[in-house]
Amino acid sequence: MTHELAPAVGLPAPTAAEGQSLASSSSEGRDWWRDAVIYQVYVRSFADSDGDGIGDLRGATERLPHLAELGVDAVWLTPFYASPQADGGYDVADYRAVDPLFGDLADADDLVRTAHELGLRVIVDVVPNHTSDQHPWFLAALADPDPEGARRRYHFRPGKGAQGELPPNDWESVFGGPAWTRTPDGAWYLHLFAPEQPDLNWDDQEVHEEFDSVLRFWLDLGVDGFRIDVAHGMVKAAGMPDIGHGEQASLIGSQTLPFFDQDGVHEIHRGWRRLLDSYPGERIGVAEAWAPSAERLALYVRPDELHQAFNFQFLRCPWEPAAMRSVIDESLAATASVGAPTTWVLSNHDVVRHPTRYGGGAQGLRRARAAALLMLALPGSTYIYQGEELGLPEVTDLPSEVRQDPAFFRAAGQDGFRDGCRVPIPWTAKGPSYGFGEGGSWLPQPAEWGALSVAAQTGDPLSTLELYRSALALRRQLPGGPMRWLPGPDGLLVLARNGLVCTLNTTASTVELPTPGRLLISSDAMDQPGDTARIPADSCAWWAI
Ligand code: BGC
Repeated sequence: MTHELAPAVGLPAPTAAEGQSLASSSSEGRDWWRDAVIYQVYVRSFADSDGDGIGDLRGATERLPHLAELGVDAVWLTPFYASPQADGGYDVADYRAVDPLFGDLADADDLVRTAHELGLRVIVDVVPNHTSDQHPWFLAALADPDPEGARRRYHFRPGKGAQGELPPNDWESVFGGPAWTRTPDGAWYLHLFAPEQPDLNWDDQEVHEEFDSVLRFWLDLGVDGFRIDVAHGMVKAAGMPDIGHGEQASLIGSQTLPFFDQDGVHEIHRGWRRLLDSYPGERIGVAEAWAPSAERLALYVRPDELHQAFNFQFLRCPWEPAAMRSVIDESLAATASVGAPTTWVLSNHDVVRHPTRYGGGAQGLRRARAAALLMLALPGSTYIYQGEELGLPEVTDLPSEVRQDPAFFRAAGQDGFRDGCRVPIPWTAKGPSYGFGEGGSWLPQPAEWGALSVAAQTGDPLSTLELYRSALALRRQLPGGPMRWLPGPDGLLVLARNGLVCTLNTTASTVELPTPGRLLISSDAMDQPGDTARIPADSCAWWAI
């Protein structure tokens, strides 16, 4: 049966909040970040220039032309700072130095300059919630038991129990186990992540001053902004109250916890916004914030705070049309209420890659390709995680001995953690580590990855890489504007934006419709007999009207 589709003409004029362009603003544009496509480079797994099996800054610089050609606007680099690598570099020992694993400061400078020459902006990570346990501040704190001395920059507390043998409260680490570790002199310190990542005390003025100075250091080097790690964590509830139950990590992002999303964090972000605004060229701050609702998340992107926040509600949304539609509506409404752009993200270095989340195999890939077209049709800014443009699945069979994610070990060998999405990406069909580098790769790559490499997919019009390239090129040309839903049959999401209709079939069967317009791009082969279009299962298409 052919379903009727309401005409997409006569859309209302965009409101200020809705009027985000589909076409990506050029690198010259004002408010470039409002609709930017930002590509996440997980440095350790992107490209290895020196054959040691670990990706590095020079490797990334050499591969920047691939990103320019892909059609993204900016690159976000995960931490490459001096670090013992207890948590993939999110344990920083020196915020102003490049870890020798990844190169040196001259390499960072070169990367930023090369990116700018290619018209790409560069965002770097900053990790303000905690330092490494090898940071000079923490070493000094361990050496001096005076709570008012070097320890004031962290959260040191006496333990409970007759001998102080129990942790000061019942908080759990995000990586599993207690959030407190006892030092040899008997005091306990707080670490919301691994014990090698002690939490900083943001009531201490010196901590503020140090991070202002670190941000300036990288802004002076030319970076265009920061992805702020654990932007919701720096302030803890007064008195650090007990939570009263376990399984706390499972509540992150759905409930308020005394260590996350406390109102006090916003004053820190306001200060950073003033600092960013004091530099020319619209430098931005992006919050990695887990908040219990879209409304709470929107507080991070009020006009005097950060520019963007990752939309993890979208990332977490199941392949279910009603849920997808409501998460899109809620995200747009919440960010519109503060005049900020919504962001869309499907994968990153902390979650199972989305083709696998969507069911894996051929079905997972079909859905992933469709989700990419949906995401790129929505108003706002989009994040692409390296390898997603190749349709890479999660690597689910890594042996324990190669794994490095501290969460894997602390959660007693539980599978499904983060190494499987961090396997180095394939560039060539053959050769050592499929072109990742001249040597091996720090995590083994599956044999099928040669066929998924950049080289193997380039020029194949059916490949996921060419789908992303075409969609990004089209996105630049289309006028953008507000979006609205059009009615459609069950299981089909139909949205319209100025001159564009996007149809997403979430069902397991083909749906036939009157042709919505001229087919621009589709994630799966589209049959168009007569005036109808047969939209295949788990597929998405863009139509010009
Ligand atoms: C990063 C993780 C990291 C954690 C602690 C995050 O949310 O994305 O990779 O383990 O912060 O720094």
